[in-house]
Amino acid sequence: MNVRHFLDVTDLSARDLHTVLTLAQADISKLGRPLADKGVALIFEKPSNRTRHSMEMAVVQLGGHPIFTRGEEVGFDERETVEDVTRIMAGYHQVIAARVFAHSVLQRMAKVSSVPIINMLSEQSHPLQAIADVLTMRQELGNLNKKTVAWVGDYNNVARSLVEACALEGMHIRLGCPKGYGARDAELNHISKLGAASVEQHSSAQIAASGAHAVHTDVFVSMGQEAETAKRMIDFANFRVDASVMAVADRAAIFMHCLPAHREVEVTAEVIDGAQSRVVLQAHNRMHAARGVLAYLMGVTI
Ligand code: CP
Ligand code: NVA
Repeated sequence: MNVRHFLDVTDLSARDLHTVLTLAQADISKLGRPLADKGVALIFEKPSNRTRHSMEMAVVQLGGHPIFTRGEEVGFDERETVEDVTRIMAGYHQVIAARVFAHSVLQRMAKVSSVPIINMLSEQSHPLQAIADVLTMRQELGNLNKKTVAWVGDYNNVARSLVEACALEGMHIRLGCPKGYGARDAELNHISKLGAASVEQHSSAQIAASGAHAVHTDVFVSMGQEAETAKRMIDFANFRVDASVMAVADRAAIFMHCLPAHREVEVTAEVIDGAQSRVVLQAHNRMHAARGVLAYLMGVTI
């Protein structure tokens, strides 16, 4: 089926990303009401604050009606197959969005869906977050081409999507991850090919952050990895973003975190609550990013 989906940042070209960001920043009145009288299904297999609220409000702003459903109510492959859920919901809704444990569920949905599927976070990626992150960095740093972004911590779903979006923006990318938790060589290659100005991976938070214009991190234990908590706390002990990490970044560097955050675990309170932090703006931008993505998938042009 010839339908545009948004499972990963790489479903967009650099030009598409620019379009999404333009739509995200446009006055709502310019977008029309592409979802007027239409439904959008929002299925969550994991908890959420930002993603649920930003998506629901973005749907409302485009004239539509969001319907939230918990994963256990739908029961993917338990109550009925992923394919049956998708085909049925596609008859009620103009878009289906899902937060899932397994990325493969989203791929199966996209295969049979007659309406766009949006990834609201899987174990592999979090592309809606990346749109908000790039939007925030553009607002704070201006043109991102050749600017340096640092990721400190786990090369997880949020990192993967952020780095892909930053590569499309032509940024220098520096990863600082403990051994065993970084990007694989094939992924580093893939990032270079997307258009990154450069890609480096170090097993040091300080080296990764050195000279960076934006320093990002995320939790050390993602949803679904709770059984690994004790080991991860040891393995990530030297990857907390604190004042000493921010001190080696650019003087005007900003700190970013997708949230929820754990103070004194992956970031100190001093940094996340300090002057360099942009986490609240970043979270608020999730709604504008969601609206931009929905408008793009609905084919809105301005
Ligand atoms: N950043 C993010 O996706 O937050 P939620 O898990 O609260 O949606
Ligand atoms: N990496 C985190 C992001 C939460 C928004 C997780 O997957 O739990």
